[in-house]
Amino acid sequence: MRLHTSPASPFGRKVAVVLHETGLWDRVERRDATLSPIAPDPEVCAANPLGKIPCLELDDGTALYDSRVICEYLDGLHAGPRLFPPEGPARFTALRLQALADGMLDTAVGLRYETFLRPETFRWPEWIAAQKLKITRALDRLEGECEGFGERIDIGTLALACALGYLDFRFAEDRWRDGRPRLAAWYARMAARPSMVATVPR
Ligand code: BEZ
Repeated sequence: MRLHTSPASPFGRKVAVVLHETGLWDRVERRDATLSPIAPDPEVCAANPLGKIPCLELDDGTALYDSRVICEYLDGLHAGPRLFPPEGPARFTALRLQALADGMLDTAVGLRYETFLRPETFRWPEWIAAQKLKITRALDRLEGECEGFGERIDIGTLALACALGYLDFRFAEDRWRDGRPRLAAWYARMAARPSMVATVPR
């Protein structure tokens, strides 16, 4: 299997964390793509017409995307505890949390493009403020919910850890921990996991 990814991509990190957590890391060859929102990577485009990473090419030539599909596929390849609970409330809690974390990331990556790549004269301050508010609302909701996570390790809690890690990586000046001591404490425990330490973005 071959994974198109990037060391800075938070969605690529989620897949890498799952590879570590499931013991599959050595079964996947990793290729760092060279891409920007306006200059996609030709090899990635050949596998995924959307030109997005992460993209996992299987040995039979099948390409899997996006990160949610890749993670669920990988979760079927190992013998350890499932990261995608098979059914019931646990499944839908994990999937909802993953959707919330991925949504925070979609928003944060969009903000990164808008504030870092887009020429200053074309920026739209009201749009930027509205995007930041989405992340603030999500963080506030999670501050109220995270004590219920306990020590749970599933696709929801791992996705959330990757999302908070990306905020540290690209938006440290926004200080997401301020006023959210429970979420900060939960993340500190998650960030110490070997899978998270091995995949710190750069
Ligand atoms: C980043 O550099 O922030 C980034 C890289 C790849 C995908 C998304 C974000």
